[in-house]
Amino acid sequence: MQQKHLVSLMDWSTGDIQEVLALTTRVKTRPDDFRTALLGKTLAMIFQKKSTRTRVSFEVGMFQLGGHALFLSGTDIQLGRGETIADTARVLSRYVDIIMARVYGQEDIDNLAKWSSVPVINGLSDRFHPCQALTDYFTMQEVFGEDLRGKKLVYVGDGNNMAHSLLLCGVKLGVHVAIVSPEGYWPDVEIVKAAQAVDPKLVTVTHDPHDATKGADVIYTDVWASMGQEQEQKIREKAFAGYTVDDALFANANENAVFMHCLPAHRGEEVSESVCDGPRSIIFQQAENRLHTQKALMMLLSGWNGP
Ligand code: CP
Ligand code: NVA
Repeated sequence: MQQKHLVSLMDWSTGDIQEVLALTTRVKTRPDDFRTALLGKTLAMIFQKKSTRTRVSFEVGMFQLGGHALFLSGTDIQLGRGETIADTARVLSRYVDIIMARVYGQEDIDNLAKWSSVPVINGLSDRFHPCQALTDYFTMQEVFGEDLRGKKLVYVGDGNNMAHSLLLCGVKLGVHVAIVSPEGYWPDVEIVKAAQAVDPKLVTVTHDPHDATKGADVIYTDVWASMGQEQEQKIREKAFAGYTVDDALFANANENAVFMHCLPAHRGEEVSESVCDGPRSIIFQQAENRLHTQKALMMLLSGWNGP
């Protein structure tokens, strides 16, 4: 693994991404081969926001690899009383082997990585959710085969952290990623440009869900109001009217298309119950795969180079 940290996937190559996905396959297929891969290692998990999947997959994953994970609520450690990220990073680096953090501002992740002497993993920021995107493309490989080139993933919803990470990771794997959002909720232009720099033909940003979902292999959505935006819920419900992934929209996709969602889901808002819990939904396969992907990621970033 060429990379020291996972802050955004922006500077990750196709090879770096493929390395994680390939090890994920091995870890998922033969978990017993990796019971001592991180023996004696400790992971610090800082959470400024709530979590079910990220917290549990990292904690269980570390245990299954022979290591130990510490849950550090952002309000319980001194960070919550104003100790700086730089000091927190330098102190934690002297105790633990990996730091994973879920934060509001991306600058907190960037600063942790800047000051930490051990690998830092972004467990979600307002701008990116790289762990989820890696898991999602691994899950797509399980469904469609290892080579995802030529597949089309259509993300319908807010141009948020998920949209950004799916875009950046997808184009590097040769996936055509279409982001469909109402005006005013489009993904950040710098991130769209970064994805276009990989291959402009693989990037679409539009506001027309019916047109964009034609020929989709995956329709993906996420909540309309992310963590930290709860007070905008009502405004967003209005802005996103017409962007629910329902049976009519899903009918535009290819016959073998699947529905994906990072979860938690709000049935009746961004997705209808019929699609979310329907026969083409693979949301719980995605959720399970967080565990396997996190294990592979922690092993590679901490320098594991076993057989
Ligand atoms: N998808 C995801 O990151 O879920 P949590 O917020 O439960 O961690
Ligand atoms: N966009 C969502 C993702 C949750 C996993 C959020 O940031 O709340």
